[in-house]
Amino acid sequence: GLPECVKIVEVGPRDGLQNEKVIVPTDIKIEFINQLSQTGLSVIEVTSFVSSRWVPQMADHTEVMKGIHQYPGVRYPVLTPNLQGFHRAVAAGATEISVFGAASESFSKKNINCSIEESMEKFEEVVKSARHMNIPARGYVSCALGCPYEGNITPQKVTEVSKRLYGMGCYEISLGDTIGVGTPGSMKRMLESVMKEIPPSALAVHCHDTYGQALANILTALQMGINVVDSAVSGLGGCPYAKGASGNVATEDLIYMLNGLGLNT
Ligand code: HMG
Ligand code: MG
Repeated sequence: GLPECVKIVEVGPRDGLQNEKVIVPTDIKIEFINQLSQTGLSVIEVTSFVSSRWVPQMADHTEVMKGIHQYPGVRYPVLTPNLQGFHRAVAAGATEISVFGAASESFSKKNINCSIEESMEKFEEVVKSARHMNIPARGYVSCALGCPYEGNITPQKVTEVSKRLYGMGCYEISLGDTIGVGTPGSMKRMLESVMKEIPPSALAVHCHDTYGQALANILTALQMGINVVDSAVSGLGGCPYAKGASGNVATEDLIYMLNGLGLNT
């Protein structure tokens, strides 16, 4: 059956704006996030503390984090790939973070310049430091349904990486269809494997909509007991290291479907 309530994680300000050719001015990002905060969303991913040489769109991470109004009842996680990013995020006032790994070696190299194994060692340091400070850490697994460089990715590999992140203390694992190549068939096979190791209550799905499959994939995940879904307003999104990927599922389309199913959000 379907869950009674679905938590939406709005990733537009991060996944959306990291992929825009034009760098959105900082004050407009802040206003965008402040307006999102007033919509009823409970989690808004704000920015990434990554290298400005790699992703210039997120170079103003500190100004954005410090500049937004943090509304009561809303959480504002940020991406932190390593300890350097983590310390900068904390200094800027972040109280929730995400590490982001991949189930593909080639994607890991292109995206964060290290192997999966090396990334796990870095993430362990970050998650450990976060736990010492009572900062909840989320873990992403990119390429969960396919990789722009390697093509097919096995459910076993996704499970292995997810288990590692969960084991180190990530409270939630977001399974990313980074390039939007998944279908309800591959989503079901991947989740069946991951759910043997991780309870559905600790899983989220993060669907890009390249082939128009995102809502169908999300419905499949909901039917399997997942109740956390990442989305981006107006379908913004993409990854600079995943050419050809289109935006995330649009938050308004997701809410339209969830309302139609009679589910609370
Ligand atoms: P690196 O070059 O391997 O890092 O980058 P390094 O440790 O060798 O250091 C090299 C230089 O980078 C040094 O500076 C460091 O200080 C600096 P220098 O001494 O040469 O002047 N540096 C940093 N600067 C700022 N913030 C940091 C940081 N760390 C080192 N945190 C790094 C490694 C991860 C930083 C780099 O590869 C990077 O920034 N990559 C960008 C990754 C990214 O943002 N990708 C997009 C997000 S992931 C995504 O979109 C997928 C997702 O949506 C889910 C899905 O759809 O599947 C989450
Ligand atoms: Mg994404």
